Amino acid sequence: MGLFITFEGIEGCGKSTQVRLLSEVLNGKGIPYIVTREPGGTSIGAKIREILLNPDHKGMAPEAELLLYAADRAQHVRELIRPALNEGRVVVCDRFTDATVAYQGFGRKLNESLINKLIEIASLGIKPDLTILLDCPVEIGIGRAMERNSKNRHVRDDRFEQEAMEFHEMVRSGYLAIAEAEHERVKKVDATKNIQSMHSEIWGIVDAFLRNHRS
Ligand code: TMP
Repeated sequence: MGLFITFEGIEGCGKSTQVRLLSEVLNGKGIPYIVTREPGGTSIGAKIREILLNPDHKGMAPEAELLLYAADRAQHVRELIRPALNEGRVVVCDRFTDATVAYQGFGRKLNESLINKLIEIASLGIKPDLTILLDCPVEIGIGRAMERNSKNRHVRDDRFEQEAMEFHEMVRSGYLAIAEAEHERVKKVDATKNIQSMHSEIWGIVDAFLRNHRS
């Protein structure tokens, strides 16, 4: 069985950059791995991602949103994550079930037992072995996300980036609550630091984890 590592955090926390840097190290060390993301880790998921993030879809019901994330995950786990874990690979995933708890649970305030039930069905009970939570104040994360989009004329702020600051505060508090409840699995990294020092800290955590868990 492989190892399942997820990255989480609010918008603009720097996850994607850190996922890329980690994958370069894994590649250099010859460790068998895949990098993927939610939503959008499969070709079916890419279509679901477009529906979820499209800023024109402002009227999406929270329940429809929750079910679309579950549909994306159901496909992703069966098509990509479970097979890769069965082959003994390290799976690095940019967001997974903690995002549903933080965004749809703490952010949208959807019913907790409904969320947990859908997570169970979609993920087949597969849980991350290690989660890196990149934590920073909402103003910093959203500021970075806006700056990134404004540099690229073709990119509009997505449906989530357009949410009010209070929404992002609730999402952050959700992530911090998960980290506190599951401190063995979830390692919090200060995402106000520069890219390289974050990467060194993350590699330190992942390296120790792989040494302990890979046979
Ligand atoms: P990304 O910006 O990391 O690519 O993620 C896309 C958006 O999807 C981000 O705003 C967080 C949101 N999201 C949820 O609301 N629930 C989920 O279960 C997942 C996986 C992502």
